[in-house]
Amino acid sequence: MNIKQTDRLVLFPDGTTVNGKEHLEIGGCDTVSLASRYGTPLYVFDEATLRSTAAEFKNQFRKHYPETMVLYACKAFLNRAILELEKEEGIGLDVVSGGEISIAREFGFPMETISFPGNNKSEEELRLALAYGVGRIVVDNFGELEMLGQITRESKQEANILIRISPGIDPHTHRHIATGNIDSKFGFPLAQAEQALMAAAVIPQLKIKGLHFHAGSQLTSPEPYRAAGETVLDFAARMKQEHNFNMEELSVGGGFPVQMSLSTPVPPLATYAETITAIIDSKCRQAGLAQPRLIIEPGRAMVARAGVALYTVGFRKEIPGIRTYISVDGGMGDNIRPALYQEEMEAVLANRMNDTVKERYSIAGKFCESGDVLIRDIEMPDMAAGDILATPGCGAYNIPQSCNYNAFVRPAVVMVKDGRARLIRRRETIADLIRCDLTEE
Ligand code: LLP
Repeated sequence: MNIKQTDRLVLFPDGTTVNGKEHLEIGGCDTVSLASRYGTPLYVFDEATLRSTAAEFKNQFRKHYPETMVLYACKAFLNRAILELEKEEGIGLDVVSGGEISIAREFGFPMETISFPGNNKSEEELRLALAYGVGRIVVDNFGELEMLGQITRESKQEANILIRISPGIDPHTHRHIATGNIDSKFGFPLAQAEQALMAAAVIPQLKIKGLHFHAGSQLTSPEPYRAAGETVLDFAARMKQEHNFNMEELSVGGGFPVQMSLSTPVPPLATYAETITAIIDSKCRQAGLAQPRLIIEPGRAMVARAGVALYTVGFRKEIPGIRTYISVDGGMGDNIRPALYQEEMEAVLANRMNDTVKERYSIAGKFCESGDVLIRDIEMPDMAAGDILATPGCGAYNIPQSCNYNAFVRPAVVMVKDGRARLIRRRETIADLIRCDLTEE
């Protein structure tokens, strides 16, 4: 086996190193010390990586296309410290529920920077968005258009809207996170988009700012953006010609990928920025359209690489000739992604980073379900109870999709920077788990 554990450091936050004790160090903090101080499973976020990623999104796009708004899709990880950081970096928000709007407001996020898509918004959620002055409502279907029309007419409120189009392209990603295909629950099929635009145009309270699409998530090639972008820009050009529709804004959604394993490299963000801005430039020039403001909604790519999960190794089970399972103290409750999307993860032994890789193992979680295997096959050094295992690329969707299955509590989260760690989410307690249960009075 010619792989070294340190080869995997490229998947970790910026500046991750191995210190003099041969321990994994993130943000200047020894992860083995973090594990003993805060317990495991522990999620560690590197502040410098979060900030440099936000800056990279702004720079890569604005370099080609100055009028770009970057909205963080906060479903990837909604947390006070993260939102405060994104606000400081001049990033807006993409939300998907009244709950996310309420929390963003509670955390002092400027409402006008918020965009609100979703396929089944309730009347209450639409009213909340209007009352709080959410910047854009992304209208998904005819029912929503009618409901929003009614609410705004009655309340004499105005709403900025984007019309979400389902571009009918193949995003080439896991089917659970494919969105821009024709058989999708999201957005108006292209064939109905003109009718949607016309229906919105007759409601004076609705200010149609532009169009929206989201091709899917973890798009490991920029091709779906090009295909969907072309489709939607051609539609905008036709609407300009036939109805004098001015597309002031175009959102191309999220979907920017993160490299999760050494065997699955992804193109750099620059390639995505170039592809997306080039297609807008050329289509607008061809059709004589004014260039719209570009909106991007990255979730995963804003936070995934900044976050690392730490687990403690427990028991070992060897099935001769079949496989060796190494169990850790977390699993599908804090990281459902391998089970749900067959995500291929990598890991290192944080307390013995220079040990040589010897054998192939499977890393099992401790949840009562055979599907709870975090990594099916990974070459690792010999592992023993008490070792600390670190898995990179865990900053997006792990904590928000976590659950209390088997009455395990959700992990603590720390933010590290310049050798200092601060708790940004405390570990849950058993009291948290039973807080909502009631007995008959
Ligand atoms: N905008 C819209 C309209 C979306 O539906 C999504 C994600 C995003 C932006 C952000 O996409 P991202 O940049 O994170 O790919 N739980 C899954 C991902 C679900 C994504 C849902 N929509 C996972 O863990 O892979």
